[in-house]
Amino acid sequence: MKDDDARKPEPASGVTRRDFMKISGIGVAVPLLVGPTVAKAAGEDVAVHGPGKVPIELTVNGKKLHAQLEPRVTLLDALRDNFNLTGAKRVCDRGVCGACTVLMDGKTVYACAVLAIDAQGKKITTIEGLAEGDALTPVMQAFVDHDAQQCGFCTPGFIVATTRFLEQHPNPTEDDIRRGLSGNFCRCGTYNGIRAVALATTREGRSS
Ligand code: FES
Ligand code: FES
Repeated sequence: MKDDDARKPEPASGVTRRDFMKISGIGVAVPLLVGPTVAKAAGEDVAVHGPGKVPIELTVNGKKLHAQLEPRVTLLDALRDNFNLTGAKRVCDRGVCGACTVLMDGKTVYACAVLAIDAQGKKITTIEGLAEGDALTPVMQAFVDHDAQQCGFCTPGFIVATTRFLEQHPNPTEDDIRRGLSGNFCRCGTYNGIRAVALATTREGRSS
């Protein structure tokens, strides 16, 4: 189809159809870009990343990790596919099940719902970063002691979420635990065991 942008006057906003296509990433004719470029949007300069690979730096478990990634790559895919950190699991891949839960600046997030490019400058902690060396954390040990997993796919996400939950709620009731861990699903139905983990870990004063 003939592109007639060149024959049209510049719109008052200063944003041409070509600019919009670059910004939204839907322009099939946009060349692959390396590093941010600048486009005009509503009269303002806007940094445009991609759609090609751009340099990304993530801070994961206290280490700086680098990769060339397309801006559309999620934090979960970056962790698993580029940095070989496969503890966070890809199950629903749409921010529903919690299997990919990691900590970002100390708060739980679904890694499948965060773009790697947006996670730059934040402290990411995965389940691999919770323990020191081969030693299990108290929460991890309690999962073993209370037989709180079956297939294990939800377990890393639950351990990260439970660890954070117990930091915030050192003396939770069962209802608190139900509500606090409601962002994580277990298809095998190990909820009783997981609640026992949270209660036992708290009772024994081992929530860190
Ligand atoms: S895989 Fe991310 S929430 Fe399910
Ligand atoms: S142990 Fe199988 S999904 Fe939870």
